[in-house]
Amino acid sequence: MIYSKIISTGSYLPERILTNSDLEKMVDTTDDWIQERSGIIERRISKDSISTSDLAVEAAKIALDNSIIDKSKIDLIIVTTSSQDMLFPSTACLVQDKLGLNCQGAAFDVMAACTGFIYGLHVTDLMVKSGNYKNALLIGADAMSRVVDWTDRSTCILFGDGAGAVILSATDEETGVMSSFICSDGSGSDLLKIPAGGSKEPCSQETIDKRRHFIKMNGNEVFKFAVRAIPDAVEKVLKRTGYKVSDIDYLIPHQANTRIINSAAKKIGISRNKVITNLDRYGNTSAASIPLALDELNKKELIKPDQIICLVGFGAGLTWGASIIKWG
Ligand code: ACO
Repeated sequence: MIYSKIISTGSYLPERILTNSDLEKMVDTTDDWIQERSGIIERRISKDSISTSDLAVEAAKIALDNSIIDKSKIDLIIVTTSSQDMLFPSTACLVQDKLGLNCQGAAFDVMAACTGFIYGLHVTDLMVKSGNYKNALLIGADAMSRVVDWTDRSTCILFGDGAGAVILSATDEETGVMSSFICSDGSGSDLLKIPAGGSKEPCSQETIDKRRHFIKMNGNEVFKFAVRAIPDAVEKVLKRTGYKVSDIDYLIPHQANTRIINSAAKKIGISRNKVITNLDRYGNTSAASIPLALDELNKKELIKPDQIICLVGFGAGLTWGASIIKWG
């Protein structure tokens, strides 16, 4: 049996900090409202010259530096993002080129919005377990500042930019990704979307005037979905592995809203001190939020061999999912 083990992690955050007080000067909001409703205090914003592939490359370089394998051994690159540099080519191909890894394997994007990292992890895990790929680079990266409407106070306060990367290597040790569960409900596609810029509403003066190239979200409905989706995904993935909630050492949820995380943790019945949060500092970085939090935990050397980590996400689609990792 082949397993895919996380041998290294890395993350990158732009230097520029945008605080809630800064946002008070941009839209009709207050620091108190943002903190009380979302738990966010500040987020990072990329310079104009930086795109999602640049964020991804920085996180990948750190993961490669932290790993025991040479970059020439990477035979698969998957990027999960919903703020891709361009409609095509894939951001993964751009990352491959910037890392100097061309022609040594496949590179493609996986798109599942904020659940992207869980979807990407599942796909990567299955490809490594197939025996055809030995060392995969999986990156969750998003420059959400490019796709939020900075005049819409109901969304612009939530998001930030960042990237997180992991390297997964084939091993015969029983370690790494133990199982994943992913699910979608396309009937909720209207709840969270960027309507224009694709084949349905190509760019026109009208789409620009109506600001339809930016995120549109029904926050209340997404909130209700999220508090159901997180416990559902955790329950399903635990069932696949045979582990119990009490076996989880760390739960790393998608970082969207502290109230969502607290409510889901309560439903799951997991102690709040096992639940990792960093959204107070970075906001919702979409596909980057889970690998960023994982890298922070790893950097602090808080994860011990054989510990069980549950990653869980939800997002546009609607999509949701979870993975169980046994740390190697
Ligand atoms: N500042 C001040 N007031 C605001 C702001 C703001 N930034 N935004 C909205 N309000 C107002 C509203 O207009 C409303 O006013 P009204 O009562 O006079 O109509 C009031 O505050 C309450 O608004 P709600 O939308 O009901 O506030 P809620 O408590 O639901 O919080 C929030 C809003 C934070 C967006 C919440 O619904 C949420 O977090 N939803 C989930 C969003 C999410 O997780 N999205 C990411 C998904 S991942 C992905 O795939 C991208």
